[in-house]
Amino acid sequence: MLDIDFKYKDLISHLNRLKPFDPDVAVILGSGLGDFAGSVAVEKTLSTSELPSYPPSTIVGHEGKIHFAKFEDKKLLLFQGRIHFYEGYHLSECILPSYIADRLGVKYLIATNAAGGVNPDFVPGDLMLVKSYLGLNIKNELTELLGISGVKEKNNFLNFPSHALNNLIIQAAEDEGISLKKGVYWYNKGPVYETPAEIKMTAIFSGDAVGMSTVPETYYSALCGINTSTISCITNYAAGISGQKLSHSEVTETANRVKEKFERLVKRTLSLKFS
Ligand code: HPA
Repeated sequence: MLDIDFKYKDLISHLNRLKPFDPDVAVILGSGLGDFAGSVAVEKTLSTSELPSYPPSTIVGHEGKIHFAKFEDKKLLLFQGRIHFYEGYHLSECILPSYIADRLGVKYLIATNAAGGVNPDFVPGDLMLVKSYLGLNIKNELTELLGISGVKEKNNFLNFPSHALNNLIIQAAEDEGISLKKGVYWYNKGPVYETPAEIKMTAIFSGDAVGMSTVPETYYSALCGINTSTISCITNYAAGISGQKLSHSEVTETANRVKEKFERLVKRTLSLKFS
């Protein structure tokens, strides 16, 4: 048994006792999509505080709920709130939503988040499909969590983000008439926003957007063989791009402003035929 399986064995048996069905698709709801569960048919909601070993969220807007829900032909596992490295948690805790998704047999995972725009063509309110990631300096630690024998793709290029799922998201955006930017997401471990000099460096290294989440859990789910994609909501200009001071309230305000568009994109994606 891997250390991580040992660590979460009570949590998984608890979930297996409570779950109403086997979910197909997991969605990690970041800033702006927190209310998503209210617009689909929820069958069961669990508070993460009732789950053994599940860490409490310390961030405003990250609720700590897990929903089992149905939408069209998909059985969904929704994570309302995520666990960030900058909250002081270990990577084995940050990846918990993906770990749970994998243990419950999920085959597709869509992560959403808020990010600062680095690309000068991006404006707050844009949605960006992540076409690649930077900052995989946590790769070794994450691979250790899974154990080499647990990594499904060996000596191969990881399908990360999922080519097939990204194409479905592009299709959904076209169907909905939503202009979808595509770009590279730079992962900053946090806990503070970047400096203008770091953002200049990010741009030189081909980053289009920057944020402090998502890469641990999505890299982990891709290692588990789950088709994994991410959509970022550009909530602000990254440091030094506009000359304005960054604040968490700007992030939540923009996320609230675009939540209807964000929700439409995710729902349309979920209504498409997977596989
Ligand atoms: N930097 C890092 N994380 C973020 C930002 C940002 O500008 N905006 C939203 N999350």
